[in-house]
Amino acid sequence: MTRRIVVIANRLPASWDGEQWVTSPGGLVRALEPVLQRTGGSWVGWSGTAGDAPDPFEHDGIALRPVRLSADELDGFYYGFCNSAIWPLYHDAIVAPEFHRHHWQPYRSVNERYARVAAEALQPSDIAWVQDYQLQLVPGMLRAFRTDVTIGFYLHIPFPPIELFSRLPWRRQIIEGLLGADVLAFQTRASVQNFARAARRYGHAESVGRRELNWRGRSIKLQRAPIAIDTAHFETVASSEPVQRRAAELRHELGDAERIILGVDRLDYTKGIDLRLKAFAGLLETNRNEPRRYAFVQVAVPSREDVPAYQVLRSDIEQLVGRVNGDYGQPGWSPVSYLYRSLDLEELISYYVAADVMLVTPLRDGMNLVAKEYVACHRDQPGVLVLSEFAGAAEQLKSALLVNPYDVDAVTETLRVATRMDSAEARTRMQRLSRTVRKEDVFEWARDCLAMLEAF
Ligand code: G6P
Repeated sequence: MTRRIVVIANRLPASWDGEQWVTSPGGLVRALEPVLQRTGGSWVGWSGTAGDAPDPFEHDGIALRPVRLSADELDGFYYGFCNSAIWPLYHDAIVAPEFHRHHWQPYRSVNERYARVAAEALQPSDIAWVQDYQLQLVPGMLRAFRTDVTIGFYLHIPFPPIELFSRLPWRRQIIEGLLGADVLAFQTRASVQNFARAARRYGHAESVGRRELNWRGRSIKLQRAPIAIDTAHFETVASSEPVQRRAAELRHELGDAERIILGVDRLDYTKGIDLRLKAFAGLLETNRNEPRRYAFVQVAVPSREDVPAYQVLRSDIEQLVGRVNGDYGQPGWSPVSYLYRSLDLEELISYYVAADVMLVTPLRDGMNLVAKEYVACHRDQPGVLVLSEFAGAAEQLKSALLVNPYDVDAVTETLRVATRMDSAEARTRMQRLSRTVRKEDVFEWARDCLAMLEAF
């Protein structure tokens, strides 16, 4: 990799904690930091605070270029168009998308601001790599400013089927914005196909084979590149002494239940947390005579708390937790432990290690890295992954127990199977999953994506 890369993402890879800039956790930052450090690349993004943006500065050897967003822009662009229109529309319209013209306007102007900041940061023959649904107009805008760079776009969430996408009042503009890229990459084959179809219908692009489009005289490549994790890091931390000790302690704190079941998600309606709780209640119902046999821990990471749909969801889930604990708990014992907070990485990994069964049952998910993290933490220890068919990860993790998360009885039954699986079968399944998660890690993902852009 020799060409310089400028990443353009909604958020910067670091946030201000009141005293200093702290590198954000997460696979994308871990994977790209070394590449950007090596090639002298930079990162364009929002600092996470409304109002004035700091001047460009360097953090961890990467030039950061903050984009300013006012409180009003944040309302229309981020809470409005991104998270009340595109997010639900691209996730099967689980919650009804809201289309407002007064949200579209700031989406356009904020995308243009990102494109302008990026255009200034770019030098001839650099690679501009635009990330995710918040910035779908940036590729087209950037191409209007700079024709001397290669432009890539990576969508972290699903691209929806045309029956849903066609509802969007600005579908043509979004498609034209995306088609400004030279390479468009998606998590799954289904998303590649969905996008190609929408591009033909609303952009009048022509397909050249399955992975190429022709549009206004340009060739555009489509790529399937499932995002991944730093597997080796999770494996190492999981087998470390403090984590092993903490995991044993957690099991004890959870009443030494025979089987510990775990869910870890951002508190989002796409994650199916409510149906999952009902499925767990089903398991308790059929085991009334052994009330302390199962413990379920749900870690719910606070997210987008200013969006009304997220507020409603939080209160629904908390009511349900109360109901399940009321129905099946005993003095001093609650079957559901609900944590509304984020955990630091070592504590999170201790939960993964402690859990016998990982329940990952989103109603729709671009990938779901929690599933991969759990597998990485169980290379040498027993554990069963229950995974939704509707998570992108299901295309790769075929040895998990796959479920339709809407079918509550089927999830209960799968939980029963998972909690009783004999150790030989569990080990074989985990070994297969482990091989995939080791081979296709986040570094491999970054290499794949960047190789495609380099070749352009
Ligand atoms: C998803 C999106 C990301 C987003 C993250 C957290 O994973 O694909 O682009 O950053 O959720 O959401 P937030 O709105 O807090 O950035």
